Amino acid sequence: MRKESLEEAQGYFTTTVALVTSQKGSDINVMSAEWSLRVSLEPFLMSVFVGYERATYDKISDSGEFGLSYCSDEQAHLAHIAGNFSFREHDKFKLADFRTFQSRHIRPPLIDGAISKFECEVIDEFKVGDHAAFIGKVRAAYFDEARKPLVFHNGKFWKSGARIPKGS
Ligand SMILES: Cc1cc2nc3c(=O)[nH]c(=O)nc-3n(C[C@H](O)[C@H](O)[C@H](O)COP(=O)(O)O)c2cc1C
Repeated sequence: MRKESLEEAQGYFTTTVALVTSQKGSDINVMSAEWSLRVSLEPFLMSVFVGYERATYDKISDSGEFGLSYCSDEQAHLAHIAGNFSFREHDKFKLADFRTFQSRHIRPPLIDGAISKFECEVIDEFKVGDHAAFIGKVRAAYFDEARKPLVFHNGKFWKSGARIPKGS
């Protein structure tokens, strides 16, 4: 049955969850972002939209770098911790078992066990409504064929379902 609601309809998007890593000096942070996607093929550009009040905003804006590690369906707990606690009060790396590996071209590390990972260098930042848009040139990318994506829908985490053949 069709319902009308500007508020509630926003829960009916279906997205991935990226663990956004950022670093300023020796301080490393991780936050969850459902608003992150590829925005250009050539050059290969990725975007992430970050609220100005996030600790992550300051770190990316100051350093010009960010990492994106797209959660696998075994990382819902990490997505929850990274998305519900702030660097301002907590070292999130002590709240959950975030395993990292060193990036090759940027300072912030990437998160092991994610389905795909991208090292991004900021080439543009602009304001979109109440969020900052960061556009990053991808310097290195990694993927793991054995993993499945974490799905975010209606405020909850899900696994992806069975493949649907084309034409059915
Ligand atoms: C699943 C999920 C997705 C989120 N997506 C975004 C997003 O796309 N952009 C954003 O600014 N905040 C998003 N948030 C909220 C931030 O992750 C959250 O405010 C976090 O505590 C910020 O951490 P920080 O202050 O350490 O940077 C999301 C939270 C969750 C749980």
